[in-house]
Amino acid sequence: MVKKLRKAVLPVAGLGTRFLPATKAMAKEMLPVVDRPLIQYAVDEARAAGIEQFCMITGRGKIALVEHFDVAYELEATLKQRGRDAELETLRAAQLSPGDIVTVRQQVPLGLGHAIWCARAFIGDDPFAILLPDDLILSDTPCTQQLADAYYQTGGSVVAVCEVPPDQTNKYGILKVGRDDGRLVEVTGLVEKPRPEDAPSNLSIIGRYVLLPDVIEHLARMERGAGNEVQLTDGMARMIGNTPFHGLRYSGTRFDCGDKVGFLEAQIAFALQRPEMAAQVRGFLRKYQDA
Ligand code: UTP
Repeated sequence: MVKKLRKAVLPVAGLGTRFLPATKAMAKEMLPVVDRPLIQYAVDEARAAGIEQFCMITGRGKIALVEHFDVAYELEATLKQRGRDAELETLRAAQLSPGDIVTVRQQVPLGLGHAIWCARAFIGDDPFAILLPDDLILSDTPCTQQLADAYYQTGGSVVAVCEVPPDQTNKYGILKVGRDDGRLVEVTGLVEKPRPEDAPSNLSIIGRYVLLPDVIEHLARMERGAGNEVQLTDGMARMIGNTPFHGLRYSGTRFDCGDKVGFLEAQIAFALQRPEMAAQVRGFLRKYQDA
């Protein structure tokens, strides 16, 4: 019997160096796209896929992320007093029930694999999703829902994948591919940031995963990989052959909000989804077209 997917881990302990100085005193995951911080998009996407419990892996200077999911009693009382019902509703929709979100401090950012290992008590024996909030995905069916469906279908781990330019494999976790039905891909190997000449394919993992809990025992070896970090990719690679492992060519558009240009593109794409501002945004885009 395949266990129900109820848990998600949100690693947010990175330093966000590409966004300095904006991220000196503020977490990268609090950067807003239109009017919602990146972390909120990740939580909303996961909830839409039936996830009920969250674990944020945090570090120094990340308190705002914790505050964001707390009840802001005075603010809510003031909004209520002023009859600002719409804003109040926005706040309440963003909130999680007491006890549904926990935080764990990573203490030292030793890599994504180490961050996930820090959630081991939360994960226990259950399957879990991972969402990297700086990957923002615009899609009809939330990406985590697409992964959850594939998890229930295969009974094993599933990672979201997309094709990257062959000369850029050294930036990503890359799949070695077995059977491929055009959407679901059997994974026979995984390599973190291979040089283009060594890359087994140009199919790259993006920041959405559903994993079986066995990954924790592999991460516990604390082996250093690319960039001298404990890589999640290496831990996942050790699972292959023991339990089913697939890549899913998700449908949707992904924006790399950890990168400045990707972040700006996300602002435009998400603003164009909003009926109250789409026309205005289209207007100013025309203004800058030939600038
Ligand atoms: P990134 O590679 O984007 O690193 O991490 P970063 O520190 O966030 O940003 P830059 O590259 O310095 O600008 C991918 C994800 O893994 C998390 C990050 O928070 C991000 O969600 N992460 C990374 C951790 O939680 N801990 C780590 O030790 C490393």
